Amino acid sequence: MTAQSLAAVAQAMVAPGKGILAADESSGTIKKRFDSIKLESTAESRRAYRDMLFTTPGASEFISGVILYDETLRQSTLSGVPVPKYLAQQGMIPGIKVDAGAKPLAGFPGETVTEGLDGLRERLKEYAGLGAKFAKWRAVIAIGPDFPGSFSLAANAHALARYAALCQEAGIVPIVEPEVLMDGDHTIGRCEEVTTAALERTFIELRAHRVDFAGMVLKPNMVVPGQDCRQKASVREVAEATIRCLKATVPATVPGIAFLSGGQSPEESTEHLGAMNTLGALPWQLTFSYGRALQAPSLKAWGGKPEAVKAGQAAFLKRARLNGLAHAGQYRREMEAA
Ligand code: 13P
Repeated sequence: MTAQSLAAVAQAMVAPGKGILAADESSGTIKKRFDSIKLESTAESRRAYRDMLFTTPGASEFISGVILYDETLRQSTLSGVPVPKYLAQQGMIPGIKVDAGAKPLAGFPGETVTEGLDGLRERLKEYAGLGAKFAKWRAVIAIGPDFPGSFSLAANAHALARYAALCQEAGIVPIVEPEVLMDGDHTIGRCEEVTTAALERTFIELRAHRVDFAGMVLKPNMVVPGQDCRQKASVREVAEATIRCLKATVPATVPGIAFLSGGQSPEESTEHLGAMNTLGALPWQLTFSYGRALQAPSLKAWGGKPEAVKAGQAAFLKRARLNGLAHAGQYRREMEAA
C-alpha cells in the first residue's frame, strides 16, 4: 500500500458529515454493557447485537468506518456474510482494535502502559488479509494528584508510535488514541494541561518513528472537567479549550481528529462536537469515534429482544445522524426532540 492509499483511507474515515463507530469492546467490556440490560454475553448474543447495529438501514450515510474486536472481525452477519465484507459492501470501512489493554506500569502506582506490541507485525498482516483497513491502539492516562508524570506519558507515546509505524508498514491506517480519563475531581484546566502534554509527547514520538501524519487519524479525549469536579464547564468552554489544545499540538498534515466520548452522555458529546465545528476554520476534520455515546440508547432500546431490532436501529441511527450533523457544524440542541 502506498502513502497515497493510506492517506485516502484516512481521509475517508473522517469524510465530511461522517464519523466512526467504535464497536470494539473487549469481551470483558461488552459483558458489562450487556449486564445493564440483563443479557448474557455469549458469542451469539454479541453477534446479534453487532448485527443489529451494522445492518441499520442508512447508517453508512453518517458512519464512515467501524472499529471491530478480534472476535467480530471473524464473525458473519446473521444473514451469513463475513462482517468485514458486509461493512465494505455497505460503504463502511472495517477496522480492528489491536492493543492488548492498559496494564499497571511497574514502579508507577496509579499509572498504566498499554501492551500488545509483541507479534503485532504478524497480527497486522493477518488482519489486513481479513479485510481490516485501519486499526486502533488506546493509551490510557489517568489524572491523579501527582500523576501522570513525564515517564508514563513517554512510555505510552512510544508504544503508540511503534504501533502506528507497524500499521503503516502493513498498509493499515493507525488510529492513535491517547485517552486522558474523565475519572476524578480535577478541573478543566488540569485536563487541558495533561491533554496538551500527552499530545505533545505523542507527536514527538510519532515523528521520531517516521510515521506519516497524512496516513493516520488521531483519537483524543475532549478537554472537560473531571466527572467529580464541582466546577462544571459550559459547552463553549469545552469547545474552546479543546480547540486551543489541539491547535497547540496537532500538525495540520493530520487529516482528521475523531474524538472518543469517554463517559460523556450521548447528548453532551454531540453538543461539544457540534460547538467545536462552529468555531471557525480548522486545519483538520473534527469528528466522532464514539463507543458508548453512539451505542447506549440503542443498546437500551434493543434490550436483547429480536422484536426490538428496529427500535434499536432507530436509536442508533438518530445518534449517528446527529453526530454527522455535529461534524458538519449543523447540529442544534432542538434536533434532539425531533
Ligand atoms: P467511548 O466513546 O465509549 O469512550 O469509546 C471509544 C473508544 O473506542 C475507546 O477506546
